[in-house]
Order: sequence, then structure tokens, then C-alpha cells
Amino acid sequence: MMKQLPGFRLSAPRHSQWFLLLFAFLVCRAASAAEIKSPDKQLTLDFSVQPGGVPTYSLTYKGRAVIKPSKLGLELKNTTSLTSGFTITDTKTSSFDETWKPVWGEVKEIRNHYNELALTLTQAETSRTIILRFRLFNDGLGFRYEFPRQPKLDYFTIKEERTQFALAGDHKAFWLPGDYDTQEYSTVTSKLSEVRGLMKSAVTGNASQTTFSPTGVQTPLMLKSQDGLYINIHEAALIDYSCMHLNLDDKSFVLESHLTPDAVGDKGLLQTPALSPWRTIIVSDKAGDILLSKLVLNLNEPTKFKDVSWIKPVKYVGVWWEMITGKSTWSYTNQDNIKLDSIDYRKVKPNGTHGANTAHVKEYIDFAAKHGFDAVLVEGWNTGWEDWFGKHKDYVFDFVTPYPDFNVPELQQYAASKNVKIIMHHETSGSVRNYERHLDSAFQFMNKYGYDAVKTGYVGDIVPLGHHHYDQWMIDHYNYVLKKAADHHIMVNGHEAVRPTGLARTYPNLIGNEAARGTEYESFGGNNADHTTILPFTRLIGGPMDYTPGIFQTKVSAYNPQNNSFVHSTLVRQLALYVTMYSPLQMAADLPETYNKYLDAFQFIKDVAVDWDDTKVLEAEPGDYITYARKAKGKSSWFVGSTCDENGRTSKISLSFLDPKKKYVATIYADAKDAHYEKNPQAYTIRKVTVTNKSKLSQYCAPGGGYAISLIEAGSK
Ligand code: NOJ
Ligand code: CA
Repeated sequence: MMKQLPGFRLSAPRHSQWFLLLFAFLVCRAASAAEIKSPDKQLTLDFSVQPGGVPTYSLTYKGRAVIKPSKLGLELKNTTSLTSGFTITDTKTSSFDETWKPVWGEVKEIRNHYNELALTLTQAETSRTIILRFRLFNDGLGFRYEFPRQPKLDYFTIKEERTQFALAGDHKAFWLPGDYDTQEYSTVTSKLSEVRGLMKSAVTGNASQTTFSPTGVQTPLMLKSQDGLYINIHEAALIDYSCMHLNLDDKSFVLESHLTPDAVGDKGLLQTPALSPWRTIIVSDKAGDILLSKLVLNLNEPTKFKDVSWIKPVKYVGVWWEMITGKSTWSYTNQDNIKLDSIDYRKVKPNGTHGANTAHVKEYIDFAAKHGFDAVLVEGWNTGWEDWFGKHKDYVFDFVTPYPDFNVPELQQYAASKNVKIIMHHETSGSVRNYERHLDSAFQFMNKYGYDAVKTGYVGDIVPLGHHHYDQWMIDHYNYVLKKAADHHIMVNGHEAVRPTGLARTYPNLIGNEAARGTEYESFGGNNADHTTILPFTRLIGGPMDYTPGIFQTKVSAYNPQNNSFVHSTLVRQLALYVTMYSPLQMAADLPETYNKYLDAFQFIKDVAVDWDDTKVLEAEPGDYITYARKAKGKSSWFVGSTCDENGRTSKISLSFLDPKKKYVATIYADAKDAHYEKNPQAYTIRKVTVTNKSKLSQYCAPGGGYAISLIEAGSK
């Protein structure tokens, strides 16, 4: 609970002793610097107002510089900016310690423990005040700008936020090109000084739309200093504000915020009282601590939902990979780019490859029921896929009209009789105005037919044109959909939506997001073999990802002879991803016909939990390998997953996390000796051994491989 923080220090610029004594009273009232420490005292935040009234902060970890003195402020449009001319007019410190239980998560309880410094800054010239609020946790720092209601600051337009992160050196960086409309890039690993030179090739060959500068990167940005500090920069609680990118000065290694512009180039329209999102810096000398940090979640508000019983983790299959590979189609006809209102679907010839037909969906429902899955996602069920350009006229998708071969009531009855849910799909084609117009009827339709989850999608340019996927208007849209969905007790999995910032604490119905390059790209040319050794350090820092693992048929040509892509992973590594890519929403993405050929390996996907009591990182190094152990929620069983890069390795772990009083049957799904993600991905072995918390394991991982282990208490089922 809030209390005054002992040991808080105010200091003034160097003046002679007598001056300090003489004006001690004034100094207390108008100090120009302040400092706080994290609860464990390892992190120190220093704040000062520099000559000219420029707010500045710095951060150290165990005495080492994480962020060197860095400026804070905002440039405003058509008025004095909030970047200089400030004095500190009030200083408050407090500390906070609570433990809360997430509705779903990697652990059953989360400790939210920090020391806080809130500085009121007054700009004499304009008589405006802002508050800078810093929260220092044992695992890092969060800070934000607050704009209280006041006569001299009512409506204002942000030209640019000027938050700096001055790094202490030319760190190794795991980065994506800065882009207002896509996050679906391959991660580049390089020194910061190499970002400029690599930017062009990073963009080429990706689904890029715009890069805003030759050194602009996205967050979460993962960094490693030469002396082994791991630093992650992101944001938390992105609400009514535009999404932040980072511009790098590649000579001084200073990063500076770069907000996503709206259709007229503005970076945000705010009315006081208003808040910026939190800017977050997670830091540790252990890579695994970055993965375990709950700082981003903790900086979000607790949920206000009184009833959360309708929110449940989901393991699902779906009519999806067959379309992604080109084996079947979302559209019902072979017509393309024709006006939707000119099609009478009952009269046109079906193309014979439409995936979402009643008979075929029933096969998926049968498969889901037989193997204990909760749900079946069905894409391409509704009219409009032939008229992608109709989105400019606001009539493409109405989200309630099925194709003639998809019988909604019949399928819902069939699914319900087998205790399986159907997951709704709303591809908006980026036509957001159209979607908002139809949202009420679309959610009512879902309620009427018993759908409790929706996958949304925002492929292509946003309409109204000029808006960007991550501008303030779109952030407001995603959050509006989330709230509306909650009113209807609907869970949301947003694809192409903004990267998550821990909002699932407040809105736990946000059970999934894509917001990065997922498995679909294995059918569009492939993901790098080290991709999944990086994503947990970058994209997943903000929240779970609907990565859609589980592809056993690694040659896409097996489904579509025209498609030569292949999955850059061994089959066994696809199993490990259920543990290493945390999500309460997990898909078994391959086709039932393939799973039926590998039922022994499929058993792991059937067994693995999607909600956890506890999580341990056994080994981790971004870009090289990650090994997690997780305990299933409310059960004694544990699951281990390990993923490695293209080089392969031998993983050495101890099972000391197991309950010392119990014995476990370990089923180890491993790459065979000659397995290789490119040359021999489907070579695996499965062995069973009895283990205890004293057991140790040395396990070979093939290039692009890994391993997965289920640990079930001996004698239990
Ligand atoms: C892109 C999404 O990521 C993918 O999952 C979906 O199937 C397609 N859009 C079609 O909506
Ligand atoms: Ca996508």
C-alpha cells in the first residue's frame, strides 16, 4: 500500500555549503534533482532539471549505466512545447507492494512491488504543469507523462514525443524496422551501429509498407551490452495515444521516441486530464529474468471486470493452414475483385476449393472432439472475400452473411453436441469504419449462435485512407472492439493489430494477438531458424502471441505443389513452441490428415497445458536458445520446451523444479541424431523415463530444433 518512502534524497546542483544551508527551505520546495532506488536497491533512478529547465533522467543497475542522462518532454503543435523551461514544484515518493492473481497467465500470482517518484513540473512561461511519474521495480523502470486538467492546457496536439533513452554503448540489438503498418518482419540481430546499413535489406523481402527513417526501429527492442547487461525497451498500457517507435542516433546511441502519425501527420490529440502510456526499461544481467519480468503487466490497471468466468484459455484447431498454404480458398467463387452487390452467390458457380463448407468443418469438429480440443477456428465462412476493393466503399464484409455452403445453425448445433466451440473470424480488410458500423450486429450474431471468441484481422491499408495501423485513432479502435466484445462476453484474438502492451491485465478477454511474423510466413517464404529464440525477448514482452505452431508437414508443397516454402523448424521444435511461445490461446495449426500420421508426436499437443501455475527459465540467450519449464494450472504436471537456432546444441538442464516428494514419468520428444530443420525435419524419437527433482538431462537439439517433455506425476492419469 502507499506509504512515504524512507531514504528518499533531494539534491541541488553544486553550490557552496553555506548557500545550501541558507536556502535549505527553498531547496526543499524547489529542488532540481531527485533519486529513488528499486526495492532491492540494485537499480537507481536519477532525475534532474538541467539548465534551461530540461527534464532529464538516468538509470543504473548494480552501479552500471543502463540509461545515461536522457531528456524528457513533448513537442506540441502551434503552442509552446513541453520540453524546457520547467522547475520542480512538487515531489512525492511512495512505495507499493501487492500480489495479484491474473485470470490466466504464466504464473498464478504476480507481485507488483515498486518505489515511486512523482514530480510535478511547472513551466513558468505558460503556467502549465505536467507530472512525471517513475516506478522503479527490481526488474526495471516504468515512467509516464501525466497532463492534469488545468486552465492553460486543455486540448493539445502532439507534434512529437521527445523521450530519450541514451544507451551506454554500441549494444547488440534484436530489432525490426520501424513501420507504421506492419510488425511482420524478420528480426535482425546486429550492433546498433550497423542498423543503418542493414535497414534496406531488412525491409526488402518483407511485408513492409513504410519505414520512416533509416534508423527507426520498433519496440519491444531487446539489447545486450558488451559487458552482459540485458535491456528491453517497450511501452505499457497503450490507451488513447499513438504507438511508439524509436529513432536511433547511431553515433551517440541515443534512442528517441517517434510516435505513429495520423492521416494528417499529427502524433496525438489529447484533452486534459490525460496520460501517456508507460515507457518501460526492463534490465538484468540474466537473460532469463527479462523473460520472467512482469513489469509491463504490472504497469497496467487491474481489471474492472466483475465476472471473468466467461474468459477461458483455448486450445484449438482450424480451417486455416489449408488456406494459408493455398490448398483451399477463403472465397467461395473464382471471381476476384468484383463488386459484392453484383454477386448472387446462389447463382454463381462455387470454385470447388472453398475450405469453410459445412461437411468439411464437421470433419474438423469431429477431430477436435476426438482429441480434446476446445474449439475450431473457421475462416472464409462469410461473403465478401471476392470483393477486397469494396472496402473503400464500406460494403465488403458485413460479418453476418455466410456463404451458401456454410450452415451456421447446423454447425453450431453439431459443435455444441460435441462440446466444441467454433471461433468466429472477422477479417476487416482494414476497413475500420465499415467494421465499427457492423460491430453491434456482428457481436449479436455471435451471441445468438453461441460463438464466444473472435479472431479479428486488419490486412491492408486502413480505411479511412491515410490512417495507420498504429496511430491513435486505430489504438482507440482496437480498445473499443475489446470493450464492446467484453460487453458481449466475447474473447478477442487480434491479428495485424498493434503489438500488445500488457493491456490483458485490464481486459483479460484479449487472449491473443499476432502483431509479429507468425507461422503463416513459413508458407510465404519462411521464418529464420532463430526466429523463435528471439520473439519471447521482443514481441512477447507485451503479451501472448497467437503464433499458431504445430506444423508437422514441413513441406508446404505436400498441400500445394505450387508452393515451395518449407517450415524452418524440426517437427519436434514445433512441439516445444507450445511451452516457449506463451499464450493462453494455442492452435494446433496443421491439418487433421497430417496429425493422424504422427499420432505419437501429436500426443504432446494434446497433453500440454495452456494455463500455468508457475514458470521457470532453465536456459536462455536471445537469438541462440530458450528452455522453459512450466507447471500446469491446478495440476502436478510440468512441461518443458526448448528451442534453438540454426546451429543446434546440447541442452543441459536440471529437473530440480519438480516436487521433491514426487516421481514423474517424463516423455521426451527429441530430434533424432540426423534431424535438421532443412534436410531432415521429421526425424524424431520419443522415450519415457521415470525422473525426480534430482534428475539431470543432457539433450541434443538439431539445427533449427529443440525438444519437448511432458512430466506427469507417476501413478496419476
Ligand atoms: C492474416 C492473418 O494473420 C491470418 O491468420 C489470416 O488467415 C489472414 N490474414 C486472412 O484473414
Ligand atoms: Ca498476419
